[in-house]
Amino acid sequence: MTRTHVPVLAGELIELGDPGPGDTVVDCTFGAGGHARLVADRIGSSGTLVCVDRDPAAEERFDELAREVACDMRFLRMDYADALELLAAEGFRADLVYLDLGISSMQVDARERGFSYSYDAPLDMRMDPGQDLDARQIVNEWDERRLAQLFRRYGEDPNARIIARELVKRRVKAPLDTTAELVDAIEAALPAAIRRRFGGSSPAKRVFQAIRIAVNSELESLDRSLPAAWSVLPPGGRLAAISFHSLEDRRVKRFLAERARGCICPPDLPVCGCGRTPEAELVTRRAVGPSAGEMADNPRSRSGRLRVARRVEEPMA
Ligand SMILES: C[S@@+](CC[C@H](N)C(=O)[O-])C[C@H]1O[C@@H](n2cnc3c(N)ncnc32)[C@H](O)[C@@H]1O
Repeated sequence: MTRTHVPVLAGELIELGDPGPGDTVVDCTFGAGGHARLVADRIGSSGTLVCVDRDPAAEERFDELAREVACDMRFLRMDYADALELLAAEGFRADLVYLDLGISSMQVDARERGFSYSYDAPLDMRMDPGQDLDARQIVNEWDERRLAQLFRRYGEDPNARIIARELVKRRVKAPLDTTAELVDAIEAALPAAIRRRFGGSSPAKRVFQAIRIAVNSELESLDRSLPAAWSVLPPGGRLAAISFHSLEDRRVKRFLAERARGCICPPDLPVCGCGRTPEAELVTRRAVGPSAGEMADNPRSRSGRLRVARRVEEPMA
């Protein structure tokens, strides 16, 4: 049975993102609408909530939620980077924009979609089933060097090279079609001593993460979305992001830190020559993680990290 998605760091997002009555909010990653429901309750009947997701399953959940809450609700089924760029081009303004990155439990638990190394399914992993590129193409068509680079960069997998070599060796005989075939190849690539180090966890985890990120262009979307999100915030508007691995969190951290930085003149210059003033105030100086209670109740929250920043007033001319 497909379980629903339990929203991660939900109390913290509401407290630090601070949606209030009448606010306009953009939820870039609607999923099962867990965060959206809480935000809708806070902004009330005079508020507007624009929800984005590229998965049609999320749109079905949206229709249910829209019938239950009082605020004005809209859904955009598209990549959130495209949605934010579109909204920015229209001069749209939002008091809060938030992203809850990665995939939902609904997606992981929908076995046939191939996101999980725990179930046997076709190699797919597309959040948007309408797009061309899927996991099968990557596994069977990318050359060995590119695969190794992918597993190293996006999976941070120290065994990237030997796993890529094994995949290429196997697919010469027959294409890899299923998640079980991929898991089998990854396990076979690793010497027994390395396999034993994984204990209860799967040696396929990092490779699956890497392929999923590539199939869905996750980091490219994140990189494009942050400046677009920032540009729709008026002074006082907040940007919040929940990341689930260091590749995401590093990008969010760097983006917000750059905006929070004022003068960039060398420290030995007697007066400021750059004239730069901070555009952002960091609401979270360090990333906020889940409480022990949340981790116990929802183990998938364990790697969640929330960062929030507020756009400061424009400096006086
Ligand atoms: C972690 S889930 C969000 C869960 C949601 N906050 C909730 O409480 O139910 C991430 C969602 O973002 C969507 N998503 C990920 N990357 C996206 C992108 N670039 N554009 C649009 N949606 C995206 C996924 O399809 C997934 O439904």
